[in-house]
Amino acid sequence: MIILGIESSCDETAIAILENGTRVLSSKVSSQIAIHETFGGVVPEIAAREHLKNIYPLFEEALRESSLKAEDIDLIAVTQGPGLVGALLVGLSFARGLSAKLAKPLIPVDHVHGHIHGALLGLDKRVIGKNLFPSLGLVVSGGHTNLYEMESPTHFLLKASTMDDACGESFDKVGKMLGLKYPGGPQIEACARQGNRKKFKMPKMLEGRDRLMFSYSGLKTHMLKLIKDFGGDIELHRADLCASFQEEALGQLIRKVKQCILTSEDKNFKSLIIAGGVAANKRFREMVSQELNLEVYFPKLTYCSDNAAMIAALGWYQYKEAGNSDSFDQQSWDVYSRYRYELVENE
Ligand code: KG4
Ligand code: ZN
Repeated sequence: MIILGIESSCDETAIAILENGTRVLSSKVSSQIAIHETFGGVVPEIAAREHLKNIYPLFEEALRESSLKAEDIDLIAVTQGPGLVGALLVGLSFARGLSAKLAKPLIPVDHVHGHIHGALLGLDKRVIGKNLFPSLGLVVSGGHTNLYEMESPTHFLLKASTMDDACGESFDKVGKMLGLKYPGGPQIEACARQGNRKKFKMPKMLEGRDRLMFSYSGLKTHMLKLIKDFGGDIELHRADLCASFQEEALGQLIRKVKQCILTSEDKNFKSLIIAGGVAANKRFREMVSQELNLEVYFPKLTYCSDNAAMIAALGWYQYKEAGNSDSFDQQSWDVYSRYRYELVENE
């Protein structure tokens, strides 16, 4: 079965073509980072216009690369949310048009859940079926810090999320304070390599609290205070500030995963799947391997940040599970932003 994946939730337009949900024939991503960089963050209207410009040429490129014709596509999976509504509408409208023209089923996919599948791409299906679940899934991106209990590739029970900023968002905001380019994550990671992780004491957010939650705004405020204490003159301290901040931002993730494992001992999690932009961080991967005694799956670096291969993969599992596309035809096709998404999760 040939699956087309379409992703346009934020500042990356992406199209992918997969065979049977696991083999990537083509994965094309057109990043808008250079355009939004000058504004220090993503400008939603510019993002939507760029998606509109890029989506069709990218689709043609993906077909060319996989030596397929549009008619060869059996299934279309598209990101429905969460994301920037104008940006999502571009991908969704394109997907609906294509689905009508080709008379092929269309599957709506949750972007955050999709990230998890970035880590499973290329894995043997038997490994996924037998050895992975029950699993803990951690998505650490620019918009989300979500920890899920997973019984299967399509089952996501939200165990923890952030009460304020997302982890990646805190990297971006602190990067900006430190005079680094957008997005802050990779810049902070590079700068931190020259720094001392123990130089500045950081607040350990939500340490010792029973509530399984993440929080990053206090850490961000602490960084702001440190920068102010230096009178803004941070040139000499930047690397130490980056290293100390990064250690606690990532340390909190490890702490909370440990807490979740401890409080759900009866679940016997077989694995931990970590995905999203922050999963690209090498120091994070090192900390995870040193501190967590669990089989861990990370995506290849190309599948950490937004891509459409992960959307196609999850769409394929959803389709297989539903058995046919009728249930998808009847559901609401409204795109949803982060706000609507939180409400859905809390129901
Ligand atoms: O998953 P993603 O590409 O997009 C969203 O769905 O948000 O994640 C982007 C986020 C940004 O906040 C970026 O700063 C962060 O991931 N990021 C990193 C690294 N690479 C990207 N954070 C820490 N270390 C990195 N190496
Ligand atoms: Zn994402």
